[in-house]
Parts: sequence; structure tokens; C-alpha cells
Amino acid sequence: MIQFPENFLWGSAASAPQTEGHGSSNGKSPSTWDKWFAMNPEKFNQHQGPEHTSNVYELYEEDIARMQAIGMNSYRTSIAWTRLLPDGKTVNEEAVAFYRDYFQKMKAAGVEPIINLFHFDMPWWLMEKGGWEARESVTAFSFYAKTAFELFGDIVSTWATFNEPLVHIECGYLYEFHYPAIVDFKKAVQVGYHTLMAHVHAVKAFRESGVDGKIGIILNVTPAYARSDEPRDLEAKEKADLLNTKSFLDPCVLGTIPDELTALLKDNDLLPETAEGDKDLIREYTVDFIGMNYYQPKRVQAPVNPKTPAAMPEDFYAPYDWPEKKMNPYRGWEIYPQALYDVAMMMKQDYRNIPWFVSENGMGVAEEERFMDEDGMIQDDYRIEFMQDHLTELHKGIQEGSNCFGYHTWTFVDCWSWLNGYRNRYGFYRVDLEDNYARSLKKSGLWYKELSRNNGF
Ligand code: BG6
Repeated sequence: MIQFPENFLWGSAASAPQTEGHGSSNGKSPSTWDKWFAMNPEKFNQHQGPEHTSNVYELYEEDIARMQAIGMNSYRTSIAWTRLLPDGKTVNEEAVAFYRDYFQKMKAAGVEPIINLFHFDMPWWLMEKGGWEARESVTAFSFYAKTAFELFGDIVSTWATFNEPLVHIECGYLYEFHYPAIVDFKKAVQVGYHTLMAHVHAVKAFRESGVDGKIGIILNVTPAYARSDEPRDLEAKEKADLLNTKSFLDPCVLGTIPDELTALLKDNDLLPETAEGDKDLIREYTVDFIGMNYYQPKRVQAPVNPKTPAAMPEDFYAPYDWPEKKMNPYRGWEIYPQALYDVAMMMKQDYRNIPWFVSENGMGVAEEERFMDEDGMIQDDYRIEFMQDHLTELHKGIQEGSNCFGYHTWTFVDCWSWLNGYRNRYGFYRVDLEDNYARSLKKSGLWYKELSRNNGF
């Protein structure tokens, strides 16, 4: 029996734009997703846009009962900035009533709400002013954060500022998966820097708000593994970790930007514009906890003929196709549970053993209806095995002293996922798009219930 520490958090994560629906009603203003879909619906899988998603705006009470039914004691979702402050300044009272009731009912059901402020949904009004490229975004975000703490701080005690900041940076400014879908390394770094400063100012607003609780950030961790011990491969790994792991973890936890990162950016003419006093704020406003979203590692090797100065991150490290890798045959990502142990040890050794939790981990499956039995239940044994393998590695890390306080899956009810729409299903509950988003329990939900009841497996 693998037993987890007392009061361990069992639950799932999702986000407002991926679940709420009502994307252009009830006082909400458009985000980049609403606008991008209106401009280019053909970019989105099966032309499924953000307007409807799984209608949590109306179904949240039933969903909370479903959380309880599978033993979840916590749940992370986000507030839609565009719903709460449609023009960035004026509070939408309908949104306040919705979120207060949603969070209160969760709490009353024994499901601790962990509330995140930004999950890739940039308001359109701010995008028109440059989005994260403009320093104004920092002020706008900290005003939003302060407003949220004031309005919900009496209910919510665990807060996060951003979900996976690196994803909106690289998908928006390097790999064309998020709006504005441009390729510009220098802008990507500037966007990253403003995101970091927006985070720091939100932490400051939290400390000043007097809310009784804790605040953290949710990062996507992709530990880099080098092709070989050759110095050039190891150097590629170092650079990959600097850009993808330390870039946010170091300032958020240790209060410093690594000198090696600054030097690397400087040598490649990528340094962002900064403002006076930023360094002191970074040093002062570190987090209480870290959320780690882990799906897959990064296999890297030395790049062949890299450009100088670098035009893309691939000029620092090239992807390496490890012949022994095990793939998720239904989604196409590597499955490597051992990385969770490595992450646990990294947090213990390099990040002052700060409290952290696995804030997302999960197995996406395309065309999951093929695993439905005659009673209509998805027999997702692959997902159970996936969770068991990851939890085993995580447990090893906890046994060795890593300060991990929970394990959240992505996700609870199948949800809409950006350009992928509903292609990859991750939930404990299936969503039927043909039947008004009706939910039905999968086998993994029953397994999770036992897991949480026994605090182990
Ligand atoms: C996570 C994101 O990294 O991956 C989610 O936080 C996203 O927002 C999830 O939905 C799954 O992604 P995909 O591409 O498999 O649908």
C-alpha cells in the first residue's frame, strides 16, 4: 500500500475559459480566444470555439456534487478576467454573484477552491494595447488581482496568479498556437518579463490585502534530459532548464533571476526592457507554494548549426528523439513518470523545500468513445495505470523528504482545450457534446474515489 501524508489534496484542475461557456454573455467581454475564434474558426479542431465549452456557468452545482461523489477534496479553476472586469475597471456584479456562489458551494461541499487568476485568457481590450508586450499589462493585472482578493478573499484562501506562464509566451510568440501567433524571440522574452512582473505585483497586492491565505503560481515543468554526457549535450540541457524551468521558478521562489539566464539573453540580444525597482520587488514578493503541471519531459541534444544570435530556443537546444521513450498512443506525448521523482528532489534540494503540489497531470485520449462499454462507461484503465505510475514516483520523492501536499489531475470533466477543442479527453467524467454536455462517470473516477478514501492505493 502506498500511503500519502495526512491532509493530502486530491482533486483536479480546469479553467474558466475552458469550462464556463457563456463566452459572450452575462456581462463578459471578449478575450483573445473569443476574438480569434470569430476571426479564424477553421484553426480550431472541428470548429469548436470557446463560446459553449461545458457550460459550468449553469451546471456548477451539479458538478460540485460530482466532485464530492468521486472524493475530491480540492479543485482548481480560474476567474475569467473578462467576466469580472469587462472593461478592466468596472466590476460586473453578475460575475461576482456567480463566482461567490460557486466558490462558497464548493467549500460547503468539502472541496477546497484553489483559484487562479490567469489561464491564457487575455482580455481583448488589453490585447489591442499590446497585451503582455506592453508594460501597462502589469498595472492592469495587479488591479484585477487586487479586485479579486477584495471580492473573494473571505471565501478563497488558496490563490494562484498564473497558469503555465511559459505556455502563453511560447504559444503566442514562438509557435503560433495562441493569439497573436507571431514568431519573435525578443518579444517572447519581453512578454515573459511582463508576465513575471505582473505576477510579482499580484503577490504584493495579496500581501497588502490582508487576506488570510497563501498565494503561489502554477508552472509547467518539463525537466530536460540530455542525449549523452558529452559537454555539448549537457550544455544544451542546462540552457533548456534555464529557459523552461529556472526562468520562473528562481524568481518566484528564490527572488532572483539567474545570472546565467541574464548572460545568455544578453549575448543573444534578447534582454527585455525593465523598470527601476523591479529587482527589489522580485526579491521581496516570493510565493508561498508552487503548483507543478507535469505531462512530459524534454529530451534535448546540442543543436547543429545554431544561429547566433539565437532566433528560436532551438538554437540553444535541439529536440532529441530518445529511442526508448514510451508514448501515449492516444495523444502523442511521452509518458515518463520518473520525472516526477526528479522534480520532487529538485524542489527539495534547489528550492528550499518549499511546499508544492502536482497541479496537473493526466492522460489525454483522442476518440475516447472507442473505450466505451455496453453500459456507456468509458473503461479507461490506461488512465488508472498512468496515475498509479506517476503517484508511485511522487510517493518516492515524498518519502525522501520532498514537501509535496497534493496531486491534481487534468481534469475532472472533459473540457474544451484551445485549438484542440474537444479532441483530447482527460476527465473522470465524459462530456457528451451531442447531448447538451451531459456528464457520465468513467472507470477512472471510481478508482480516484478509492484513492482519495484510502489516501493511497
Ligand atoms: C495543460 C493546460 O498544459 O494542457 C490546459 O494547462 C490544457 O489548459 C491541457 O487544456 C491539455 O492540452 P491538450 O493539448 O492535450 O488538449
